[in-house]
Amino acid sequence: MKRFKKLWICLFMIVLLLPWSANGFERVKFGVISDPHTAMPASGTKDEFKMQLSSVDLLKNAVNEFNKIPGLDFVILLGDITLNAEPWNVEMVKSTMDGLRAPYYIVTGNHDISIVPTPPKPGAPPSMGEYIGVTRSVFSWTFQGHGYNGPNPWWSLDPVPGLHIIGLDTNVPGIWGGTVPANELAWLDQDLYANRDKLTIVFSHHGFVTWHKDEESAAWKQYDWFPVDNAREVRAILEKYPQVSFSLNGHRHIGVRYQKVNDIYYIVHPSVSSYPMRYTVYTLTPNELSWVSEDIPISPAVAKKAKANCIGKDGEWWRCSDMPLGAAGDKKMLEFFEAKEFMKGRLPVRFKSYR
Ligand SMILES: [Fe+2]
Ligand SMILES: [Fe+2]
Repeated sequence: MKRFKKLWICLFMIVLLLPWSANGFERVKFGVISDPHTAMPASGTKDEFKMQLSSVDLLKNAVNEFNKIPGLDFVILLGDITLNAEPWNVEMVKSTMDGLRAPYYIVTGNHDISIVPTPPKPGAPPSMGEYIGVTRSVFSWTFQGHGYNGPNPWWSLDPVPGLHIIGLDTNVPGIWGGTVPANELAWLDQDLYANRDKLTIVFSHHGFVTWHKDEESAAWKQYDWFPVDNAREVRAILEKYPQVSFSLNGHRHIGVRYQKVNDIYYIVHPSVSSYPMRYTVYTLTPNELSWVSEDIPISPAVAKKAKANCIGKDGEWWRCSDMPLGAAGDKKMLEFFEAKEFMKGRLPVRFKSYR
């Protein structure tokens, strides 16, 4: 009888631990930063909505904060690492990120590749300029081993057994909007099929959902360039695979927010160098993803200026149509960017195949 009791206890323990052993990990801790827009001081460098003059310090301070966290498995940098793809700023970011104790991975942002003059869409504001910075391939070869593995500007890898992460390239040279081209979509589909037994997180610079009604059309300052042009097509591929629970992106420069579309959670991340200047630490278990988003340490004077510059002045393109100049509009705008209620949170994992 005693032997049977022991057997039942063993069986119970096996059932209890099955999800963990099947997924291959018990707990993964990773950091996320986005849009540092790092700019070493040069002529024309100034603190605006993007706090250019403080951007180097802000990135270094974020790296310092990550280095204080015991057991951090990896860090993701979600693109727009430079002001405008300047080669010297790419190298500066590389040397700063190399100071991380944890491995780090990067996705490319629209400000990280050569900006060539192209005709804007009808009625659109001018594109980012005519500066020729590093090319897409120079960028991805610079960061080989940090996600990139060969000539493709997109990548996937398993940072720990049982967890698969994907870094997409969503950029179109010459515009600040994005798309995921057909050959990359085909690769994504194949990669998800080949790794369908692993919990999967997708990382990208541009996102696949909207965060404000202005983003649903080109009517307001080309705000439809915040999500990729073919977001519905990308989401349809992700939705085919139940191992995809989360899609994390930057580009929008607002505090962490999330929304659920057809069982997948889409999470947007703040910029390192524009208000509210935060870094985020995630803890993933086979059952849930939780996070804490913290202000990057910086002097009170810089923090105050960043907040003032976020409200900005008339003509700033990041002010939405329902956030007019004035006290009420400013308040609404700050609440939208701060997203204080989302600084901490937890979401369930969708992947139930092993339970
Ligand atoms: Fe950005
Ligand atoms: Fe961007």
